[in-house]
Amino acid sequence: MPAAIIDGKETARKIRAGIGVRAATLRKEGIFPCLAVILAGEDPASLSYVGAKEKALAEAGMESRDIRLPQSVGEGELLSLIDQLNRDPAVHGILVQLPLPRHIREDKVIAAIDPAKDVDGFHPFSVGSLVLGQPGFLPCTPHGVLTLLRELPVPLAGAHAVVVGRSNIVGRPLANLLCRRDINATVTLCHTGTRNLEDICREADILIAAAGKPGLVSGAMVREGAVVIDVGVNRVEDPAAKKGYRLRGDVDFDSVAEKAAYITPVPGGVGPMTIAMLLQNVLIAAEPKN
Ligand code: GUN
Repeated sequence: MPAAIIDGKETARKIRAGIGVRAATLRKEGIFPCLAVILAGEDPASLSYVGAKEKALAEAGMESRDIRLPQSVGEGELLSLIDQLNRDPAVHGILVQLPLPRHIREDKVIAAIDPAKDVDGFHPFSVGSLVLGQPGFLPCTPHGVLTLLRELPVPLAGAHAVVVGRSNIVGRPLANLLCRRDINATVTLCHTGTRNLEDICREADILIAAAGKPGLVSGAMVREGAVVIDVGVNRVEDPAAKKGYRLRGDVDFDSVAEKAAYITPVPGGVGPMTIAMLLQNVLIAAEPKN
């Protein structure tokens, strides 16, 4: 039987509606949840992501402070801007869209963000908290994947989860989340140095593709009845498409859907969940702490 398609768009819509209600309550208390969004340069994919985030914030009744900087912006200038935003009580969250221009050290910039405003969950303090199982902001894409998995009638405890890709943004934190005691999956983290990738993937009850390689996971690499989550958002040339490209995931959808029990589409799977989780983090950052 072909796989059931996991509707990330619909799940994200429900979560965003709930966030909208909570944001309205905060506004009545005189708190206007606000995310500062910094974009340096004009990378087309980044421009599109930032636009989608700001639109979603507005729809949920939250504010964004849109800061666009030229590709040539200096590291020092960016750091002092972050310092200013850290000290601004009207700003609850700070998001620096990645990748940054090559002459700027990404780790320096991320470490400059106040962990209390680190709604991306990229600061070493947030990463450390995640690994230790302590409270802190969870990175949005891994949190979105976990939220989708928890909705399925499939046990995570004791399941073998195979994560393909070890990026700081997705693979690494997701592998760490899945093996936390409260989730209790057994995790294998694969990467470009992995031997026998195909064999390991075939062992997965839950297979998560986050390598940034279009069509990497084929049907032959998937066990019958597995859950397959596609985190890939690759732009591939397509002269027939209006924009000259189309989005393709890391999973070869057609061949994998014949074997998997559940599969996320691209677009409409993980992507919308990332934005919903970002909104959730901004709301948490804005809520009064006792
Ligand atoms: N670039 C790609 N994904 C992300 C993300 O989730 N957050 C930020 N800040 N940059 C990104």
